[in-house]
This record gives sequence, C-alpha cells and structure tokens, in this order.
Amino acid sequence: MQPINWEALKFEFMPTRSNIRFHYADGKWDEGRLTGDFNISLSVAANVLHYGQAIFEGMKAFCGKDGKIRVFRPWANAKRINSSARQLVMPEFPEEKFVEAVKTVVRDNIDYVPPYGTGGSLYIRPVMFGTSPQVGVNASFEYELVIMVMPVGPYYKGGIKPVDAMISVDFDRAAPHGTGHIKAAGNYAAGLYSSMLAKKQHFPIVLFLDPQTHTYVDEFTTSNFLAITKDGKYVTPLSDSILPSVTNDSLMTVAKDLGYVAERRRIAATELKDMAEPAACGTAVVITPVGRIAWGDQVIDYGWKEIGPNLRKLYDELTGIQYGERPDNHNWLVEC
Ligand code: COI
Repeated sequence: MQPINWEALKFEFMPTRSNIRFHYADGKWDEGRLTGDFNISLSVAANVLHYGQAIFEGMKAFCGKDGKIRVFRPWANAKRINSSARQLVMPEFPEEKFVEAVKTVVRDNIDYVPPYGTGGSLYIRPVMFGTSPQVGVNASFEYELVIMVMPVGPYYKGGIKPVDAMISVDFDRAAPHGTGHIKAAGNYAAGLYSSMLAKKQHFPIVLFLDPQTHTYVDEFTTSNFLAITKDGKYVTPLSDSILPSVTNDSLMTVAKDLGYVAERRRIAATELKDMAEPAACGTAVVITPVGRIAWGDQVIDYGWKEIGPNLRKLYDELTGIQYGERPDNHNWLVEC
C-alpha cells in the first residue's frame, strides 16, 4: 500500500485493497467474494450498457476518537437500495447480507480508513447493474452487486466553505435530476448537461426546481436542499421527485434533538431570497453551505463567507456522532 496524505484527500476514486462482489443468477444471489481486481468484464450487450439498469448507494465509515471503525446508517442504505431495485425491476438484496458485506469490505480495507482527526472518511459505494446480454427492452436476468470503498476528503473544494449554486433553467434537457425522477439512487446523467452549463459560469452546483411546474425547490445535482429560515426553522422540500437522503433524514432528527422545528414542506423558489442559511446535504457533501444562488439574471447573496452558526451546530453534531465524539442516541453507527 502506498502512503496516503490523509489531509490532502479529495472526493475521487482510488483503488484500495479490495472490493466485494455478488452475482445474481437463476433467481438468487451468490455468497460473494472479495477481489483485488478493479475491472469488470461485461458482454457488449449487457443490459446496463443499453438500457441503464443500474442503481447505487453511498455511505461512509469513520475512524472514531476511540480508534474504532464505524459505518454510519448502513441499514438505511440497505433499505434504500432495495427500494431503488424495486423501481427498476431489479432483484432485492437481503438487508442483513448487505450490512455484512459492507462490514467485510471495510474490514478488508481497514488501513484505508482515514485516521481520526484528519477529517477524512472511507466512502462506501455499492453499485448494482444488469449484466445479461439482451437487446430487447426487458429487465436483465443476471446482475452484479459490487461494493467498493475509497478514502475521501471534502466533495467540494474548500470543505464547508459556502459554494455558489445556479438554478437550472434548462428544463427540456435536465429536469428532473435523474435520481429523483424514478426515486432510485443511481442515474445522475440527466443532470450533467445543466451541471456543465453551470460550471462554465463558475457555479459548482445546480439547484433543480420541480419537474412539473418549475416553481418549487427540488434538489441539487449532488444532494438534497435544506435551509435554516430567518425564524430559525429547519426546512427541506417535500417532493416526490427527490432522493430520500439518509443525511437529510439524520440532520432533521439531529435538528429536532437540538431544539429546532424541522419541517419537510413544499418550498417555493420565490422563498429562497428569504432563507437565512441554505445548504446542500448528502453523504458526500455532508452539509455544504450555499453562499449565493443565481436564478436567471438575479443573484441572491446570503452574505456568508464561512458556514453560518446554525448550520455549524448541525454539522458539528452530525460529524460529532459519526466520529464518536458525541453520543449516538439513535443507534446509527455500526461497528466493523
Ligand atoms: C452521495 O452523497 O453519497 C452520493 O452518492 C452523491 C454523489 C454525487 C457522490
């Protein structure tokens, strides 16, 4: 293993010791195997290549203050991958087997978990896809589930410094975010065009409005939307076309524990200018504050150069639980 500069980690692929793979054929999943091979061999006619039958998940393992390695809420991801699988007519994967597989691959790559105090974590990426060769539009009859892991740092350059967002106005091509549309985690390609346009104008992140009326806030390219309102409430969109984010759910719970009122409700885009501390949230982005939002010719500037005080409280509480510095009152952590 090459030495790793833990403090300099970004959110990018790095091959580690192993990934774990399971194959589904004849109506059942096999027992799986760890492998040091980071390539896959597929038929040129594999369903995933033609019809995109693929879903994925994301979660993280943390090295705690006590040196123990714990995964944050893998049971929630086990449930969500199965909900995604049902949407795309893919086979469900038994929840216990999923959590066991996550523990196995994390243990096998234990020396890739960033040490406590470096601010890094081990990102865990399960991906399931249809492998059978077919050109008729049908669900695949064979599948592969691969769980890979990699040490990561912040998703956006600058860590928890505010990023600038742009509301997507390119409805024809991009709306909705592929993830939310089918409520299955796993196809972000629909958002890439808007993302490319926004990045050209130096906006690292796109905020999508609802696909039907284009008037309500949905979610970002990479993550859910949340905001602290001027009267100190935690609000996040109630929408059928966004990813059911485990991080958002955790933050809502944490917010309530800290005494905030937390609401999931429709948020009109016109309300954005009245929010105090908007942010993106997700496994990869954790809580990333949003400094400005561009909407056509208008720019809403929230005036933050650093994370705001309420988001800071939520960030410290969530990451405090993840790194074992604060009590895990909801039993979210699973030790490896
Ligand atoms: C995650 O937050 O885990 C995701 O899968 C989002 C992706 C943009 C990295």
